[in-house]
Amino acid sequence: MKTLKLTLNPLDKRSQIRREIYSNFSEHLGRCIYDGIFVGKDSDIPNIEGYRKDVVEAFRQIKLPVLRWPGGCFADEYHWKDGIGEPSGRKKMINTHWGGLVEDNSFGTHEFMRFCELVGCEPYISGNVGSGTVEELSQWIEYMTFDGISPMAELRKKNGREQPWKLKYLGVGNENWGCGGNMTAEYYCDLYRQYSTYCREYGGNKLFKVASGSNADDLNWTEVCMKKIGPNNMHGLSLHYYTIPSGDWQNKGSALEFDDAKYYSTIKSTLYIEPMICRHSEIMNRYDPEHKVGLIVDEWGTWYDVEPGTNPGFLYQQNTMRDAIVAAINLNIFNAHSDRVYMANIAQAVNVLQAVLLTEGNVTVKTPTYHVFDLYKNHQDATLIYSHVENEEASESVPCISQSASVNERGEITVTLSNCALDRGFDVEINGFDVKTAEGRILSGEVHAHNDFDNPESVIIKPLDVRVENGKAIVALPACSVAEITLKG
Ligand code: AHR
Repeated sequence: MKTLKLTLNPLDKRSQIRREIYSNFSEHLGRCIYDGIFVGKDSDIPNIEGYRKDVVEAFRQIKLPVLRWPGGCFADEYHWKDGIGEPSGRKKMINTHWGGLVEDNSFGTHEFMRFCELVGCEPYISGNVGSGTVEELSQWIEYMTFDGISPMAELRKKNGREQPWKLKYLGVGNENWGCGGNMTAEYYCDLYRQYSTYCREYGGNKLFKVASGSNADDLNWTEVCMKKIGPNNMHGLSLHYYTIPSGDWQNKGSALEFDDAKYYSTIKSTLYIEPMICRHSEIMNRYDPEHKVGLIVDEWGTWYDVEPGTNPGFLYQQNTMRDAIVAAINLNIFNAHSDRVYMANIAQAVNVLQAVLLTEGNVTVKTPTYHVFDLYKNHQDATLIYSHVENEEASESVPCISQSASVNERGEITVTLSNCALDRGFDVEINGFDVKTAEGRILSGEVHAHNDFDNPESVIIKPLDVRVENGKAIVALPACSVAEITLKG
């Protein structure tokens, strides 16, 4: 096998990799919330207060930092007061975006906040700007966070929650250029300023307000938001980018059946997120050289045709080693740009798009994408360090290796590596400091390999042999693989 050199410099410290880069997104869409997260206390499926036990445990294992809710497009049609109080008395609504199903609102604010408490993650609430009112959003914040005597705090107490919750992340609208109201950037900015003014900070609760950002490479949206809202009136600006094979929405193709050309076109499409982050960052740098505003990639991941026989409005797709490679590349890119990318939320948590978990009945399957989040978790809150790899092309303009490296407060170095080539593996020689000990874990398999309800463990993390010779670490990185290596000097 050919040897590629990976050079690290632990003394060349870059930005902190905020744990929030490893966040997730849960929408009232298909079987994400109901079935995926919440089955109700009376379910035969093992649950904690109605939440799937295996799902709670799975998210705890990958140290999920932040969960975004209730959408997505759903957020701009959601009226939070319909989702509080005795569940049997809650209003029903039509989920017009996603399958036209009846939403019974049995999973509302209290249920979401409790799920976050069980998982140990922070909530990220997406507020309704498209079809809501300033008063409605203002009252939602008061309901959740006010610790005193007020109409909303009293209502919360009446509904069984004495203490306010802590809420940091607040999205002021979602995709307001599209499903969130088809607005112009200028009109949205005015609304953002108005809505966010009345999202008060009660007691010690500090809000991190995220303006609804651009669709992919709509640079004008970012320019207008930076100019009209400005770095003193928002903490984050979002960016949504989905990986579509060949970038062609009409011909996305199947999650499970694809040829090599489609595979490499998927990887090429995912790599495009990096120049896009750079271009948005260049605009942000002009208005915000101090990097006060974070780029919040609060929707990313693969989007294929739905699985045959499933509701087209449910966006249910399988997940293979192709998705693991996509996840690895994206997370390495987010790490590399962590001076500006403050948070990223893969779409979505359970049973929707590039889900980390899939459920059916009482079985929960960890997808290859889930295992990548597991392999990468040691990057959370560590500091990015310089890394450079000798690379070669797997296909036209698609490099084989993607990598990132960080050092944590104990001085341990975490390297994550993926090899997207389908036809060749490499020996990777890690140098740049005197390596004393090393250990590794790897996820690899044929590119179509996946986990399903009959074979939930076809793709799992395995130990990876790492040789340490003369202060260098050497690993064999097979075709189509993702690895994590921990090094101590
Ligand atoms: O994640 C699915 C949908 O994609 C979200 O609801 C929306 O924000 C985006 O267009």
